[in-house]
Amino acid sequence: MALIDTAFSMLHVLFAGVWAGTTVFYAWRIHPLLSEGDIDATSAIAITTGLRWLTRIGAVVFVVTGGHMAATGYGDGRLFSDPMGHAVLGMLALWLVVTGLLEMSIGKMQSHLGDGRIQTAGRETGTFVKAAATFSVVLLLIAGYLAQPLA
Ligand code: HEM
Repeated sequence: MALIDTAFSMLHVLFAGVWAGTTVFYAWRIHPLLSEGDIDATSAIAITTGLRWLTRIGAVVFVVTGGHMAATGYGDGRLFSDPMGHAVLGMLALWLVVTGLLEMSIGKMQSHLGDGRIQTAGRETGTFVKAAATFSVVLLLIAGYLAQPLA
């Protein structure tokens, strides 16, 4: 395996853990504080800005490293003909969905937070944040399927 393959694979998995883990923890422990009004707007903006940056840096990392891994390991139509290729396509689709859900939720939240409407920011986006966290877990389950030893 070339050095670049190893480095990209390591970076991909590192970002997968950090981004999915942060999304799940945010949905579980931090977002409910908004809905209950138990956090101030400045802190909530700082935390959601962090999540937004992680999502954007992750977008570059996933497209570059995942694209490289797909091109090197799933050429010759394997992406469409093989169950593991389908899992990679599912990974790509779910990454798009989670990224869209987070970008949309954070944009909405920050506009409410800017006006001091903390509980509205939490309540109006709760379902989207929970969906993003659920799909992040599914993404890691798909990654676990892909990590199975090759026959
Ligand atoms: C642009 C989006 C993405 C693309 C194109 C992509 C593509 C790939 C490819 C081709 C592999 C190698 C599969 C193999 O070893 O056979 C892979 C592995 C992996 N992906 Fe992604 N991925 C993307 C996003 C994500 C996201 C969002 C996560 C989780 C948050 C993730 C988690 C993982 C993990 C943990 C592995 C390692 C699995 C293994 O050990 O083989 N990926 N990805």
